[in-house]
Amino acid sequence: MRSIMVLNSKGGSGKSTLATNLASYYASQGKRVALVDFDPQSSSMEWLAARPSGRKSIIGVDASQQNFRISRNIDIAIYDTPAAVHGKALNAYLRRPQSIIIPILPSPMDMRAATPFIQKVLANGRVARKECRVALVANRCRENTNVYHQLSEFLKKVRKAPFISVLRETQNYNKAADRGLGIFELAPYLVRRDLDQWQPIIHWLNSKRSQPVNA
Ligand SMILES: Nc1ncnc2c1ncn2[C@@H]1O[C@H](COP(=O)(O)OP(=O)(O)OP(=O)(O)O)[C@@H](O)[C@H]1O
Ligand SMILES: [Mg+2]
Repeated sequence: MRSIMVLNSKGGSGKSTLATNLASYYASQGKRVALVDFDPQSSSMEWLAARPSGRKSIIGVDASQQNFRISRNIDIAIYDTPAAVHGKALNAYLRRPQSIIIPILPSPMDMRAATPFIQKVLANGRVARKECRVALVANRCRENTNVYHQLSEFLKKVRKAPFISVLRETQNYNKAADRGLGIFELAPYLVRRDLDQWQPIIHWLNSKRSQPVNA
């Protein structure tokens, strides 16, 4: 089973947006997907509740409850996580996935918070041993802004975690989420630029670079 986690201790960085879009992508590819929501705010579970019955099904797992169970009969588990995850809780999350995506916003506060957070993740034993691989994604970017350039320079300098893509700020994510869909399920002509921006993410996830070295 493939396992992918979206993680950042900063609230509102796009964890649930990336998690639900990943679930929608793999489901639309015919994979059996579990969307596992560790956040008591339940954004991913609410997204799933809004999903029309005719769409490719995604199994929801409310992991904010005790004794949750993830069926073995799936191809991919996508983990959405809450904000403010630090210390022991962070290390407990880091025991689970093969691959982690950290979305970061172009804002001074988000970048400041990202520096120690990324260092803590990279210092984790599983991550250091490449049993769990980490990549960085800039989210909600407007390309002609100074703060976007600052974020991009900052992420390029992070050693040991590749900076794999930049997602623009667009209402397409909200339009899709409103209907329990991902951008992969909207009319392609509306989301062409966004689909292009997801390509490097999909490529990384499908490559060995995102998978445990000894798998
Ligand atoms: N690329 C984007 N363009 C426009 N809006 C976005 C984008 N990414 C996320 N958003 C919006 O930003 C808000 C926060 O995103 P999201 O809920 O995914 O973050 P989060 O990290 O899961 O937040 P929390 O820490 O509260 O769980 C949402 O309203 C979402 O629709
Ligand atoms: Mg969330």
